[in-house]
This record gives sequence, C-alpha cells and structure tokens, in this order.
Amino acid sequence: MKSNKLLIGLVIFSLLLLGIGFVLAGNNSGNNKDTENLKKAVVYKSPLCGCCVKYISYLEKNGYDVEVKSTKDMNSVKEKYGVPVNMESCHTTIVDDYVVEGHIPIEVVDQLLKDRPDISGIALPDMPAGSPGMPGKKIEPFKIYSLTATGTEVFGLY
Ligand code: CU
Ligand code: CU
Repeated sequence: MKSNKLLIGLVIFSLLLLGIGFVLAGNNSGNNKDTENLKKAVVYKSPLCGCCVKYISYLEKNGYDVEVKSTKDMNSVKEKYGVPVNMESCHTTIVDDYVVEGHIPIEVVDQLLKDRPDISGIALPDMPAGSPGMPGKKIEPFKIYSLTATGTEVFGLY
C-alpha cells in the first residue's frame, strides 16, 4: 500500500516535469521563429547623421532586424552599390541584395521585395520633408527612382 502511493506520487511528479518541459520547449521554439521572421537590413550611415538613426528605428518598428554600419566614407558606399550622385540621400540600406537609398517609406520597400523587379534598387534622392525619419510636413508625393544597370527611371510617386 505504501509503495503504491509512492509510485503514484512518482508518476504525478514525472508528468508535471514533462509538462514543464513542453511549456519551456514551446516558448523557445516560438522565440526562434520570431527572430527568423524578422527581415534583415543593413544600413550604412555616417557617424554624425541623426536622421539615419530615426530611419533605422522606423525600419525596426516595421519588423526589420537592422545591422548598422557607421562609416565616414559614404562616397565609397554609394560607389560600391551603384548609387548615382544625383540619386544620393544620406544613408544607404541593403535589403535582400536591393539598394534602398534614403528615406523611403516602408510600403515601397515591401512592394519592392514582393515584386522583385529586375533592378538593382530604388532611391529617394535628398531628404524630403515628411519622409520617414525626416521632420516637417510632406508637401508633394515622393518621387522614387529605380536604379538599373543602364541608368535611372521613375519607379513611382508615393
Ligand atoms: Cu537623412
Ligand atoms: Cu541621415
């Protein structure tokens, strides 16, 4: 009789441990999945620029895992990724091998990744007021350009 109770106690104890194990394992796999679901972006910025930092937070808020690369030589970055001088903004973002130059709204980045056009990237030259990460009020649609091997063309107005 005594050993029976002991046995039942052991069984209940084992089941409890098993239950805790499942809960922990479940939580872990959930966390891993969330990290995998984050889209990856690399942002090149000059160390002193503040609007780039705001754009980085904007990307993070919109589900991107951002790696920040600060460099004083942004000219080399533009050259390496084929951003023409007249298309330049402050920071340059790389997402899935596409160049995303400047303060481009997230809808446009998401559309680029969804449609996957045969271009090297998109650019919003300068730093228009009211664009993500920039202060001020948007006064006209943002004119975003496609960067291609042969030049630039209008990607769209947003
Ligand atoms: Cu900027
Ligand atoms: Cu900036």
